[in-house]
Amino acid sequence: MIGRLNHVAIVVSDLARAAALYRDTLGARVSAPVPMPAHGVTTVFIELPNTKIELLHPLGDKSPVQAFLDRNPSGGMHHVCYEVDDILAARDRLKAAGMRVLGDGEPKIGAHGKPVLFLHPKDMCGTLVEIEQA
Ligand code: CO
Repeated sequence: MIGRLNHVAIVVSDLARAAALYRDTLGARVSAPVPMPAHGVTTVFIELPNTKIELLHPLGDKSPVQAFLDRNPSGGMHHVCYEVDDILAARDRLKAAGMRVLGDGEPKIGAHGKPVLFLHPKDMCGTLVEIEQA
């Protein structure tokens, strides 16, 4: 069922500094900051040969990553995203296995324009997991 690692998301306290680190020090291909008001984040996309890194920084008053940054002032890994061929079939299989799907359980359109769901970290070895329709 599980497919490619689509991305690893990292919350950062200083987006410009983090982007410069990946671009200048690590030599990665780094996008300009992309504000995503619907998701409450500003994102910088980093393309690696085999996957992506997303740098996340809070945007607006109700950002879902603000509490994370409050708990982890220097930032940290926020979630991993795995691709699945059929997100509804994946959701049903995971729910049947006792996993908690966050929110109302219906896929939302994620940062890449594809349907996504999040799984409770307590059911996934302590890691917030996003699944994305491939
Ligand atoms: Co993500």
